[in-house]
Amino acid sequence: MSVINSVLIENRIFPPAEALVERSTISGRVAYDALCQEAETDYSGYWARLAREHLTWKKEFTTSLDESRAPFYQWFADGTLNVSYNCLDRHVEAGLGDKLAIIFEADDGQLSRITYQQLLARVCQLANALRARGVKPGDRVLIYLPMSIEGVVAMQACARIGAIHSVVFGGFSAKSIHERIVDAGTVAVITADGQCRGGKRIPLKPAVDDAIAMGGCEMVHSVIVFQRTGDDCSMQAGRDVWWHDAVREQAQTCEPEWVGAEHPLFLLYTSGSTGKPKGVQHSSGGYLLHAALTMKWTFDIQADDVFWCTADIGWVTGHTYIAYGPLACGATQLMFEGVPTYPNAGRFWHMIQNHKVSVFYTAPTAIRSLIKAGEISPETHPKNYDLTSLRILGSVGEPINPDAWMWYYEQVGGSRCPIVDTFWQTETGGHMITPLPGVTPLVPGSCTLPFPGIQASVVDETGLELEWGKGGLLVVKKPWPSMIRTIYGDPQRYANSYFPADLGGNLYLAGDGAMRDPNTGYFTIMGRIDDVLNVAGHRMGTMEIESALASNPLVAEAAVVGRPDDVTGEAICAFVVLKQARPSGAEAAEIANQLRSWITKEIGPIAKPKDIRFGDNLPKTRSGKIMRRLLRSLAKNEDITQDVSTLENPGILDQLKQNA
Ligand code: PRX
Repeated sequence: MSVINSVLIENRIFPPAEALVERSTISGRVAYDALCQEAETDYSGYWARLAREHLTWKKEFTTSLDESRAPFYQWFADGTLNVSYNCLDRHVEAGLGDKLAIIFEADDGQLSRITYQQLLARVCQLANALRARGVKPGDRVLIYLPMSIEGVVAMQACARIGAIHSVVFGGFSAKSIHERIVDAGTVAVITADGQCRGGKRIPLKPAVDDAIAMGGCEMVHSVIVFQRTGDDCSMQAGRDVWWHDAVREQAQTCEPEWVGAEHPLFLLYTSGSTGKPKGVQHSSGGYLLHAALTMKWTFDIQADDVFWCTADIGWVTGHTYIAYGPLACGATQLMFEGVPTYPNAGRFWHMIQNHKVSVFYTAPTAIRSLIKAGEISPETHPKNYDLTSLRILGSVGEPINPDAWMWYYEQVGGSRCPIVDTFWQTETGGHMITPLPGVTPLVPGSCTLPFPGIQASVVDETGLELEWGKGGLLVVKKPWPSMIRTIYGDPQRYANSYFPADLGGNLYLAGDGAMRDPNTGYFTIMGRIDDVLNVAGHRMGTMEIESALASNPLVAEAAVVGRPDDVTGEAICAFVVLKQARPSGAEAAEIANQLRSWITKEIGPIAKPKDIRFGDNLPKTRSGKIMRRLLRSLAKNEDITQDVSTLENPGILDQLKQNA
């Protein structure tokens, strides 16, 4: 791989306010450096100290990192604990039973509140119900639930009895559920009759029925159904049971299953470079340690905070920063069933105001769509709301372009709140590279520096560390506690994809391009290496072109993919959403030319998109991720043959077929 040219230059820098430095758990660069130094000097001792301080163990571990079966690393392996005990019982035992654990706001605005004591009781009841139905430690349980307190209860109940959950996002199709049931050998499913999103009722249970009917699912002996919408729902006698019936007679206490630290906590399926999703397997002890630690250090979570992560529990962000992290810290969190644009695009700001949210964690794509909405309907702009309760903002899932960053910083955070741009992945379990609010001067668009103890680096295609200023492959040099343990049922694929022999076999390959700033060492993520383009021998991160496009005053959002080109190898194809209505004809051609000139000016003629296509929106999953594989097909003018079942807005595909 030749070096990725970085052409984004960002000079703005925002140091943390003095008051914030003083009150933060990790206060100032000296404290950060001391932690990094401790990890440098005694890596395994550093993590062992943290695991003792932040988790409650049933049996203390005597070994920290075990590398004897590398790359199948183990952490704290001879210790035993229970994740749900750590998230619930220990807070109740410490006198926090009456503290609010979750404030749940439904799609229609209805509120439910649950304390730690109440949550523990509900988790115990469901755990008992699962046990009563024969679910044993190590069994796989598929969870297909809407955003709900029950979603968290289901995950925690599995953890309590040592069952391994596999949460499937509510937007996935029956076929996807079927694949996951079969791949994991699932014995039970927890689902709901339906869900409410954006004022609509969407059925869920039929997809589970269809999945099981596809065959090969004979081991599924139980389906527990939470009644959310009350809509008609077929129940198969002997197999299906209503949640409320299953728990009615169950005790509100339940002895936790004390498991080894390496006992799998969950599988979470994610897309890889091949078509088959991979079941990323996480551990109990190491995973929970990082979930707790990142809550405390990245989000600086304090006793009086109201934390809100807008992710869905179907994605890793919802696992670590809804179902486990906030509870492991005894925090109060807000949880939301609906969508950011219903009843209008001011919903997020309205909720922050109402619930006095102090730490807010969302995705750049949400920010960008709300920027656009605020321009179209000014009454939904954040300035109309009292957002003074906010003290820390977070971003996750994709690179945040500097323009969106500045809007988030100024319009949402009132130029007071640091933005922690957290780089991580399903496979990493928790934050890997991120600012810490009381430590790190912020640079828009950079995820800055590794979390203390994480040994991130940028290497060339042979695994050689590159000097700062050169783009290359993002790697992690040492195993860390919350890392993926294996791909379920395919250990070889785990070893090959994450520890490739080309890099020497001992570096974790993230799959992203990155570059470190020559002066500060700050990391900038340049997009997936599979999204890196090579145009006429020049490598460029697609994110840089997108960011440049997005900085044009006409542009609301842009995505860039490569397509084969006879002359230049690859050509750049840009899909653009304007702040104004979608142009056509001569107007479209005119704006496309303006954008080409803009890119020429911002980056250089090499980055000029050959094709520009305008849409009212981009094809996105319901979680808001742009579906680049669809864009690549569109760019190549191929017929769409892929599964579009997770697509939020299939109507958009037709618009994007024509060049401007
Ligand atoms: O490309 C990186 C991007 O999202 C990928 C991981 O996706 P997933 O496993 O779905 O997890 C998303 C939530 C953690 C990464 O390989 N990514 C994630 N966070 C960032 C990011 N890219 C740039 N900046 C980030 N903060």
